[in-house]
Amino acid sequence: MAEHPPIKVHWFLPTSGDGNEVVGVGRSDRDRRKPTRAYLGQIARAADHLGFEGVLTPTGTWCEDAWLTTASLLGETERLKFLVAFRPGSVSPTLAAQQAATFQRLSGGRLLLNVVTGGDADEQRRFGDWLDHDQRYERTDEFLAVLKGAWGKKPFDFEGNHYRVQGATVSGRLDPVPDLYFGGASAPAEAVAARHVDVYLMWGETPEMCVERIERVRALAAANGRTLRFGIRLLVIARPTSEAAWAETERLLAGMDPKAIAAAQDQFRRTQSVGQQRMAALHGGRTDRLEVSPGLWAGFGLVRGGAGTGLVGSYEEVADRIEDFHRIGFDEFILSGHPHLEEAWQVGEGVLPILRERGLLAGDDAAAPAVLRPASAS
Ligand SMILES: Cc1cc2nc3c(=O)[nH]c(=O)nc-3n(C[C@H](O)[C@H](O)[C@H](O)COP(=O)(O)O)c2cc1C
Repeated sequence: MAEHPPIKVHWFLPTSGDGNEVVGVGRSDRDRRKPTRAYLGQIARAADHLGFEGVLTPTGTWCEDAWLTTASLLGETERLKFLVAFRPGSVSPTLAAQQAATFQRLSGGRLLLNVVTGGDADEQRRFGDWLDHDQRYERTDEFLAVLKGAWGKKPFDFEGNHYRVQGATVSGRLDPVPDLYFGGASAPAEAVAARHVDVYLMWGETPEMCVERIERVRALAAANGRTLRFGIRLLVIARPTSEAAWAETERLLAGMDPKAIAAAQDQFRRTQSVGQQRMAALHGGRTDRLEVSPGLWAGFGLVRGGAGTGLVGSYEEVADRIEDFHRIGFDEFILSGHPHLEEAWQVGEGVLPILRERGLLAGDDAAAPAVLRPASAS
């Protein structure tokens, strides 16, 4: 694996609530396991203990605010990073630069940022944002120029179509400058990624679909004299055996109300998000043929917006699929599963040790769990 840097595996904080079913678009899971600080703290501590690199924390009206939630969990964790999602349109870039600098000082440098431009007009309008899809990316482009300018050594002046700032800066140390993560599958999204970000994120499409995008974004970045890392966001069902993992897909599918599937497909037909359109096209609302590529199940996306596919299999098989995606260019994996606490342990004790044993995992965690083997093999 000499040509690729080692893998970083992140987990996810379910700040809209958690449960052991897949919850449909526009609904939250708050009535089951509420996203209390105590419960999210359990997930963060498990991720910290198991050796996950960080936890993605989403942004949207359906979930808790990511900045406040993650800041409240700093004291409960020691090394875990927080990948905080936020929308440029709702905050001044200089204020975001200051929030990031404060977070780095409070956390000992554990902030990562996920810049979310926004793909749903209804959601944007709730925040007073009336720009169209491509204008939003133009604003994100300017936002990132100001954000990075404010983090620079000298006060930063900028005049664009969306921002005009004079002397933007942050006081105090910023150590390290947080890596910028960014998702968006449309052409303007790719152009912004190529110019500004450190990690370009995709929801889990098939390897063939991903390769094409990686090559295009890599070439765009190279034309800007830059290199990017690539990250993929996937759900996961990892079990001791393949049979047990696939049985779990049947259980999840049986729990999906056909009306919820129809409502989600209706919403996907209206979305402005190219990434969401690509996710929805993987299954088209059909409940047969959900294994869209070996070990990649699209059933989550029947009712769930955003990441709609998951890796399914034995611990060994899930590690193999991660290795396949690594081989085509992904260095960062953001995983989640239902419920997030139990599935963190499945992946942390079942899959991460295999990746570690294969020498694929970033970081040297001597205290991490050893590979689980069937009793007869030990
Ligand atoms: C890994 C990943 C995580 C994302 N997280 C969020 C989120 O928390 N909230 C949100 O509103 N959109 C989120 N998005 C959506 C995108 O940031 C983007 O705004 C949307 O897909 C529209 O872009 P597009 O039309 O270029 O695909 C995420 C996308 C990806 C790939």
